[in-house]
Amino acid sequence: MVKKMAYNWKSWWRPLHKNNYLVIKLGVSVLLVGLAFTLLFNRSSDFPPISDTPFLQNPHISESPVNSIVSQQNSDQIPPQENEREESFESEGKCNIFRGDWVPDEAGPFYTNTSCSHIETHQNCMKNGRPDTDYLYWRWKPHGCDLTRVDPKKFLEFVRNKSWGFIGDSISRNHVQSFLCVLSTVEKAKEVYHDESYKSRRWFFPSHNFTVSVLWAPFLAKAEIFEDMNGVSSSEIKLHLDILDKNWTEQYNTFDYTIFSVGKWFIKTAIYYENDTILGCHHCPQAKNFTDLGFNFAYRKVMRNVFNYITTKSSTKGVIFYRTSTPDHFEGGEWFSGGSCKRKFPSKKGEFELNELVRILREIELDEFEKASFKASENGVSLRLFDVNPMSLLRPDGHPGPYRFYQPFAEDKNATVINDCLHWCLPGPIDSWNDLLMDMLLNG
Ligand SMILES: *[C@@H]1O[C@H](CO)[C@@H](O)[C@H](O)[C@H]1NC(C)=O
Ligand SMILES: *[C@@H]1O[C@H](CO)[C@@H](O)[C@H](O)[C@H]1NC(C)=O
Ligand SMILES: *[C@@H]1O[C@H](CO)[C@@H](O)[C@H](O)[C@H]1NC(C)=O
Ligand SMILES: *[C@@H]1O[C@H](CO)[C@@H](O)[C@H](O)[C@H]1NC(C)=O
Ligand SMILES: *[C@@H]1O[C@H](CO)[C@@H](O)[C@H](O)[C@H]1NC(C)=O
Ligand SMILES: *[C@@H]1O[C@H](CO)[C@@H](O)[C@H](O)[C@H]1NC(C)=O
Ligand SMILES: *[C@@H]1O[C@H](CO)[C@@H](O)[C@H](O)[C@H]1NC(C)=O
Repeated sequence: MVKKMAYNWKSWWRPLHKNNYLVIKLGVSVLLVGLAFTLLFNRSSDFPPISDTPFLQNPHISESPVNSIVSQQNSDQIPPQENEREESFESEGKCNIFRGDWVPDEAGPFYTNTSCSHIETHQNCMKNGRPDTDYLYWRWKPHGCDLTRVDPKKFLEFVRNKSWGFIGDSISRNHVQSFLCVLSTVEKAKEVYHDESYKSRRWFFPSHNFTVSVLWAPFLAKAEIFEDMNGVSSSEIKLHLDILDKNWTEQYNTFDYTIFSVGKWFIKTAIYYENDTILGCHHCPQAKNFTDLGFNFAYRKVMRNVFNYITTKSSTKGVIFYRTSTPDHFEGGEWFSGGSCKRKFPSKKGEFELNELVRILREIELDEFEKASFKASENGVSLRLFDVNPMSLLRPDGHPGPYRFYQPFAEDKNATVINDCLHWCLPGPIDSWNDLLMDMLLNG
């Protein structure tokens, strides 16, 4: 186990810069960043239908670029422009299923806009009128081996009497829907619980005695969030870096399998607390005299706490998959400035670079995972990396784009629509995440 986990992440990156104080031009204003991710990340399918047009109602939006301080700590250097990864990333001759290409595949999706009832409207691209379908006919082909398509029947047999938890933000929700859709081709899942906002939910497959939960915990740490249903915030988020979110820790130990992942919410404006005392903030409110610590400071700290928690045997009973964050694919602008994702085919390696934000998140994720994997194997905890980031980067064609809304161009074919180039269409590329999970379960 130790050896399997001991990938040399560092070799993926060129030597890091040594400057202590990094300022990145992100080209987004402070408030925008706060808003962007609520708008894209917050909605749940079963909210009472919110009008789809007032996507953006906040008067404070400006498009003037600002400098965002990422960190004043020297621990989080940003890798330079090129993040070259070693092509032959293998461990003891074992094929790395996370490195590969998308190849044409005639089989097509397991389910459609009509056959699966678990698809959130914002990601039901077909139903919403996305005209092209080529993006559905690809499969992930790792270099040096083949990935078998998930066999939902076999999968359900494998997890009989077990429970599975998805923990994180709306990308985790995106994935749980795909997971349910694929498994529901064998047996229909029954919803057995949802919270008020439908953000945390649970389903049951009666004849397999299999339970699937999704837990809403966008920071994994305790956070006080002051946002309405439209994602408009009335105050900064108060994020407690040293306290894990009970939303997941209270149930975590009941799962036989857990996949967790967060990321993008850390980019929001927030005030950071430790021991109930203000440490500093990110995108600090000007009126207050706090130190801007940068979101990377908070992300590293929280991820470290999370990994400390799960690599302690007493808190963990099952198999833990740590999923890396996924990139977005806005082109020709940001989400708020006309950015879109109009591609119809996967891209080739090198066509897209991770943007700076995702690159910083990823650096921290891999760093902290690497440390955690040693501790996990010492403590006999099964912690696996579920590294979907590189394969996702190659799928600019897999996002809803304007088809986040129902028939966005029905009335005006030139309508201006805000694109979602962050979540994934269902069916779509993230269905292959289930193939990977099956492979990891069956082939170790
Ligand atoms: C499903 O998508 C197809 C287009 O791919 C569309 O013709 C059909 O109306 C959709 N069905 C529903 C129920 O939305
Ligand atoms: C369902 O699984 C649980 C373990 O998760 C087990 O205790 C229980 O007996 C199982 N029930 C049936 C009907 O198989
Ligand atoms: C599931 O639980 C039932 C009841 O406890 C047991 O009879 C059965 O053998 C279990 N199946 C598996 C695959 O664990
Ligand atoms: C915990 O879950 C509840 C209900 O789903 C939600 O309102 C709350 O914001 C969550 N906590 C955090 C820190 O996200
Ligand atoms: C936390 O704060 C309390 C008082 O607010 C203080 O007594 C305690 O020493 C602090 N603990 C740490 C670890 O800083
Ligand atoms: C802000 O902090 C600086 C340095 O700690 C201090 O000199 C200044 O007086 C503070 N300003 C306010 C308005 O509190
Ligand atoms: C849409 O824009 C094109 C030019 O880009 C124009 O010729 C056409 O009339 C417009 N259609 C509508 C319905 O506004």
